Amino acid sequence: MLNRIESLLSEIRGLSAASAAEAEQLRIKYLSKKGTVSVLFDEFKSVPPAEKKAVGMALNQLKNEAQQRIQDLKEQFDNAETSEGKVDLTLPGTSFPIGGRHPLSVVRNQIADIFARLGFSISEGPEIEDDWHVFSALNFPPEHPARDMQDTFFIHKNPDVLLRTHTSSVQVRVMEKQQPPIRAIFPGRVFRNEAISARAHCIFHQIEGLYVAENVSFADLKQTLLYFVREFFGENSEIRLRPSYFPFTEPSAEMDVSCSICGGKGCNVCKYTGWLEIMGCGMVDPNVLDLCGIDSKKYSGFAFGMGIERIAMLKYHIKDIRLFFENDVRFLEQFKSAL
Ligand code: PHE
Repeated sequence: MLNRIESLLSEIRGLSAASAAEAEQLRIKYLSKKGTVSVLFDEFKSVPPAEKKAVGMALNQLKNEAQQRIQDLKEQFDNAETSEGKVDLTLPGTSFPIGGRHPLSVVRNQIADIFARLGFSISEGPEIEDDWHVFSALNFPPEHPARDMQDTFFIHKNPDVLLRTHTSSVQVRVMEKQQPPIRAIFPGRVFRNEAISARAHCIFHQIEGLYVAENVSFADLKQTLLYFVREFFGENSEIRLRPSYFPFTEPSAEMDVSCSICGGKGCNVCKYTGWLEIMGCGMVDPNVLDLCGIDSKKYSGFAFGMGIERIAMLKYHIKDIRLFFENDVRFLEQFKSAL
């Protein structure tokens, strides 16, 4: 028995392990319930009483040394993983996720950049408006059916406190404050009491444009919009103006752009017409100029207005307007690199 203990002891003193897992294997081999060392303890029962003392001491020494040895082997790997000397300081750091611009901001900036090149500045106005700036100054007479064109959110049941239904209210504010020449765009949020669907929302964004100076003609309007469309949708784009009606412009038109998806051949986005309607426009009605304190005999002007969501949906082939307001990062992340 003593001889077996002796040889096991020297075996254990010579142990080595190449990994933490190997050290664990050694623990199982020697120290687990059926391990070599434990088996000797079981046999201790049958050692003759005279030898018990010596064998018992030797066994305890064996067990202690085995535990210590295997513990040392294990620690050697623990240390290797945590010791500072082994940390690779040349590894790149982990970066924090950063946000990006919202697609509506991206598109608004693109539109604003194009008009900035034509000398248009940017003005903003309040979202909570009064009747004068949203309707009356824009030539909507009281009770005129044109007011029904837009379902309005009124506040406090007061017909003179309302959420603006279009950014045309800002053209009134600018014309009241400033004499021509005026060349500005007005981006902002607007509100209409509409049922929410894939194509419509009760909150959306517009960009309105206004140019008032001497001798501004419809030809200037057409050329300005053609320049915008070719910069924004591509140089092969064409535009088409169809007669329309707005109380604050005369004549008025709806502008279509040739479908950027099928190139005008016809597809399901343009409903096989080859054209996409993107904005309303027209020559500022002389009544509006006069109501805002601008001499309509001396000056003329044009105005146009478009929905930012609609333009973004056409440019990026987004099928549902609600995506802009859900803030699902999987959607938003696709615009991360855009400015
Ligand atoms: N305000 C109109 C709308 O909301 C758009 C428009 C603006 C039309 C300027 C003509 C001129 O639909």
